[in-house]
Amino acid sequence: MAIQWFPGHMNKARKDVAERLKDIDVVIELLDARLPASSANPMLARMAKGKPRLMILNKQDLADPVVTEQWLAWYRAKKQTEALGMDAGERAPAQRLIAACRALAPTRGGLEKPLRVLICGIPNVGKSTLINSMSSRKIAKTGNMPGVTKNEQRIILADDFELYDTPGMLWPKIEVEEGGYNLAASGAVGRNAMDEEEVALELLKYLLVHYRSELAARYKFDEEALEGAQDWQALELIGKRRGAVLSGGRINMQKAAEIVLTDFRDGQTGRITLERPEEWAEWEKRAKIL
Ligand code: G4P
Repeated sequence: MAIQWFPGHMNKARKDVAERLKDIDVVIELLDARLPASSANPMLARMAKGKPRLMILNKQDLADPVVTEQWLAWYRAKKQTEALGMDAGERAPAQRLIAACRALAPTRGGLEKPLRVLICGIPNVGKSTLINSMSSRKIAKTGNMPGVTKNEQRIILADDFELYDTPGMLWPKIEVEEGGYNLAASGAVGRNAMDEEEVALELLKYLLVHYRSELAARYKFDEEALEGAQDWQALELIGKRRGAVLSGGRINMQKAAEIVLTDFRDGQTGRITLERPEEWAEWEKRAKIL
């Protein structure tokens, strides 16, 4: 089963964003640094075509720093695009953000032509947290339910710098199967839209290839114990290790899956990124062929 996640309101969001974009100078897209490609909104990219863009790889504290650098370089190689890594621990996010936007639109600024910037991001990517940390008053609520930012907000970050929060919700549009799994693993997809065991198995498949030593360290295995292991075998080992056992000694795979997903989301498994630029390009090609 692939993840299906494309809730309603998209048309309304599209219209609202299109309307707002008319007088916007720079578009900021907030991405999850653990899954930069699948946390992007392809519709936004199409609508904002031709406008300078700032990609913020947020939650970089949870992501693999080496891969974050690869993504930053990949975005910066694109026309009119700047990219920054950020996380909620950043002391003065507004300063870096303002400087990057000014560099992207050097002809704007001053009281006559304030720089107008739109900030977008799919639910749960950390937009409210970032906006709150940049504002003296709490404007957007944060919470653990994807989708709490409801109405458009305008935040004056400097006399000649206006930041607009996206009107409506921009949901991810899952075009690549791996992207659906990665969104689900990150917590951006509602629980009832996925099978947690399946998502955990896909996650383990990736971790066994790219982050085997982190996995072994987290669950206190010898790395050799995981060598050649299939995803389901790793899930069984983890379930056993963590006492997720049913009567009769069978492993409670659902419980084991929840452990794997929670540890990943909380960063307990280590700093992990589920997508690399060249890998994503391959997945996209395959998705188009299918
Ligand atoms: P949204 O507006 O884009 O929907 O996201 P929001 O700011 O509500 O953040 C979603 C979750 O991500 C929150 O956790 C928030 O604390 C966490 N978060 C935001 N930025 C960062 C970051 O840079 N690093 C890390 N590690 N986490 C970040 P939550 O568990 O849903 O809520 P809570 O623990 O803050 O109460």
